Amino acid sequence: MTKSANSMWGGRFAAGPDAIMEAINASIGYDRRLAPQDIAGSRAHAAMLAATGIISDNDAEVIREGLLTVLSEIETGDFPFSTALEDIHMNVEARLRDLIGEPAGRLHTARSRNDQVAVDFRLWVRDQCDQADEALGALQKALLGQAEAGADWVMPGFTHLQVAQPVTWGHHMLAYVEMFARDRSRFADARARMNTSPLGAAALAGTSFPIDRDMTAQALGFDRPMSNSLDGVADRDFALEFLASASICAMHLSRLAEELVIWSSAQFRFVKMSDKWSTGSSIMPQKRNPDAAELIRAKIGRIFGANVALMTVMKGLPLTYSKDMQEDKEQTFDAADNLMLALAAMTGMVADMTANRESLKAAAATGFSTATDLADWLVRELGLPFREAHHVTGSLVALAEEKTCDLPDLSLAQMQSVHADIRADVFDVLGVENSVASRTSFGGTAPSQVRAQIATWKEKLE
Ligand code: ARG
Repeated sequence: MTKSANSMWGGRFAAGPDAIMEAINASIGYDRRLAPQDIAGSRAHAAMLAATGIISDNDAEVIREGLLTVLSEIETGDFPFSTALEDIHMNVEARLRDLIGEPAGRLHTARSRNDQVAVDFRLWVRDQCDQADEALGALQKALLGQAEAGADWVMPGFTHLQVAQPVTWGHHMLAYVEMFARDRSRFADARARMNTSPLGAAALAGTSFPIDRDMTAQALGFDRPMSNSLDGVADRDFALEFLASASICAMHLSRLAEELVIWSSAQFRFVKMSDKWSTGSSIMPQKRNPDAAELIRAKIGRIFGANVALMTVMKGLPLTYSKDMQEDKEQTFDAADNLMLALAAMTGMVADMTANRESLKAAAATGFSTATDLADWLVRELGLPFREAHHVTGSLVALAEEKTCDLPDLSLAQMQSVHADIRADVFDVLGVENSVASRTSFGGTAPSQVRAQIATWKEKLE
């Protein structure tokens, strides 16, 4: 049996599509998520068509009520989605026609699915920017809580994952607060740039009907209509900027996840994940696995992937719309869903984890972490050039290594065997607490600096 032609655009077709054609062509399986945005766009468009006298007030009112019914059917799960109707736009319009008859056919005046999908997707992505901002704010608060609890707790700071210099736990937590603040500002920038309306661009060239694009732009919360109708239907920068911002944010999440995986290991014991955020092993009874952190680290791949995929979809497309652009949505949805999930999981994990003050401190003293403090002391107190101080300190580290002890465990006589002028007060700078307390430069790790930063962030995050 031959399928009948598409009821929306099938006027010049004698037969319906091949089943495989239908499968590759249809987007309703995923773009049904755009239903609220599609209906909002149609309501704005219908109201504008009536205000400009393009359709009657009566038709506009019937359309408005019909669209509300469609929306409630979708919300309650009673909507008869059809693959033959390809996408959300045609599904909604066909159902509207079933409900209200002839006036439904007037809704698509001065509009095309090209500007329709552009406006729907833009509204959806804009909403995701807002959600990301909110989720990031919650994560920052969780990190700030950790920073406050251990503002002056000493821990090793690392470079090359080798112990470098002692830092404070509060300082380390605040580093992530800074990163996530930049992410928020990236989403905010992207949001501000995307907030212009493509509606009214129609298929690509604009329309001969006397539409009011300012009116629809305003109704949908956009700053203004986009100025070039070709660009209006061809642009997907908004989704790309969202995905690029999401990718950088995801990268930050992954770095933090990696630290949590390392820190919660038996070798480190820097943090203990709460039971709520740990999993056990089916064979090894002692295990507490940081699965959520690992999954965050892994999920980031999908977000990067979506960014690359959409860049690749767009890069070879001539203006204006090509069906390739239908492939913009599915991966963006997936990336956004996984970003929100990762943010929520990270927020929960961070809020519930307990830092182990003792382990942090013990680790801070390993790896000759105060060697730089010793070199600085030689410069300050003995007037040595830094390069020479570096060399003397290196010899002292070698001596300690030979004696299998830490720097503060060397005797004064042993120290003086390397440099005769070293005095007993050198031992003051070899303690980790003194080391961090001395780093009072702006943005440094000293508890005084950290507390000042915490106070600033508390105010900003109120
Ligand atoms: N489902 C389509 C998409 O997502 C809607 C636009 C279709 N436009 C067209 N000229 N076929 O891109």
